[in-house]
Amino acid sequence: MPTALVTGATGILGREIVLALGRDSQTWSTVWALSRSKKGQWPSNVQSKQLDLQASAEDMAKELGDAQPEYIFFTAYLEQDSEEKATQVNGAMLENFLNALEITGASKKVKRVILTTGAKQYGVHLGTSKMPMEESDARLADPDRPPNFYYKQQDILREKGEKQGWDWVVTYPNEVVGVAKGNFMNLATTLGIYCAITKELGEDLMWPGSPDFYSSFLCYTSSKLHAAFNLWAALEDTPAVSNQAFNVINGDVESWQNMWPKLAKKYGLRVPEKMFTKDEEQGKFDEDGAGSVMKLMERPPLAEFAAQNGLKGSKWAKQSQVEAKINMMKWSQRKDVRAAWDRLAESKGLEHESFEKAPWWFLWFVLGRNYHVVLSMSKARKAGWTGYQDTWDSISETLDELVAEKVLPKFP
Ligand SMILES: NC(=O)c1ccc[n+]([C@@H]2O[C@H](COP(=O)([O-])OP(=O)(O)OC[C@H]3O[C@@H](n4cnc5c(N)ncnc54)[C@H](OP(=O)(O)O)[C@@H]3O)[C@@H](O)[C@H]2O)c1
Repeated sequence: MPTALVTGATGILGREIVLALGRDSQTWSTVWALSRSKKGQWPSNVQSKQLDLQASAEDMAKELGDAQPEYIFFTAYLEQDSEEKATQVNGAMLENFLNALEITGASKKVKRVILTTGAKQYGVHLGTSKMPMEESDARLADPDRPPNFYYKQQDILREKGEKQGWDWVVTYPNEVVGVAKGNFMNLATTLGIYCAITKELGEDLMWPGSPDFYSSFLCYTSSKLHAAFNLWAALEDTPAVSNQAFNVINGDVESWQNMWPKLAKKYGLRVPEKMFTKDEEQGKFDEDGAGSVMKLMERPPLAEFAAQNGLKGSKWAKQSQVEAKINMMKWSQRKDVRAAWDRLAESKGLEHESFEKAPWWFLWFVLGRNYHVVLSMSKARKAGWTGYQDTWDSISETLDELVAEKVLPKFP
């Protein structure tokens, strides 16, 4: 029976991989779950290890001891305040960890490394990309682009795989719907708290993001589906999967125009009949206004494909922006909002720090962008992947889980 090791075991993506490996103890004999902190309870085939991936390879080798995993799921991630630092730090964590396995001799047993990266591969954080995004799309290479830590990590993976004799798979999830506490990017927790406080304040459920994004198409990734994909990709021994990168999204195309009323209904809230002013509908925002506008790169990722796709100089390849109606960072500092959370946490027995630890900047950014975010799942499907998850169901079920985790109050 194969053995596995998961880094980032307490993260939004890593946790579900550990749980999926733990549930399938008929297939996976031993699973090592690695992170710095210790959170949650694991099934009996899982051994938890505390390890700092920022330590030297030699120190990590001592901590790893006799762990001999055949399949490695690398999902560890450390946010930094610049792309340069993110590239340096996240690249070094992967490289030093793989070196540590060489020091212990475990790398000889490794069959495959599955690395989680994401849709920033296509520059979804820089502006509109070519739609839908496909794995064969060229890396963003123009000189004005910031460094991309996913490129660095994938280069390390290729090089180490060749040297150490294992193969690899890379996943590109987009915004993840799942459960984690105090992590860097968390859609469901922030959305759920926003709704719960709106209810406590007796207000209607105002869309906080961009009017354009409200009616744009999007693809999200359920952390459970991503875990299932990881387990499938680990054991799928075909050339269509080995040494390949895959988009991993739910398999449907959604919009908030469709899901916002469902979210409101779940909380017993009303969506205002008219949410946007004429100016907002035309993308005219006051830069110092409530939402605060943030211009993204002058040349969005699509600009690199524009000439070959017949879109050079077109309006579709123009600069994108974050143009949220509500600045979630300012909203989270409002006195009435904080008082509402204090009341809720106290009266419903919630984990009080959930609010403080929730990444409000992330919610503001992902709902505030004014462009579609659609990825193709064709490559995975052609390779034999049949997984699918309804996006609204995954949001609704995750909100229920967050109630059980005492992050959110019970629904009315
Ligand atoms: N979340 C999203 O919406 C999303 C969307 C698309 C792509 N992605 C990508 O998916 C990958 C995983 O991100 P995530 O969102 O799952 O991350 P996350 O929820 O923030 O979790 C990060 C994990 O890494 C561990 N970690 C951080 N620093 C460490 C260190 N020095 N040593 C050991 N472990 C360390 C953390 O555990 P401890 O803190 O306990 O050590 C935690 O388990 C990243 O490449 C991210 O860009 C995420």
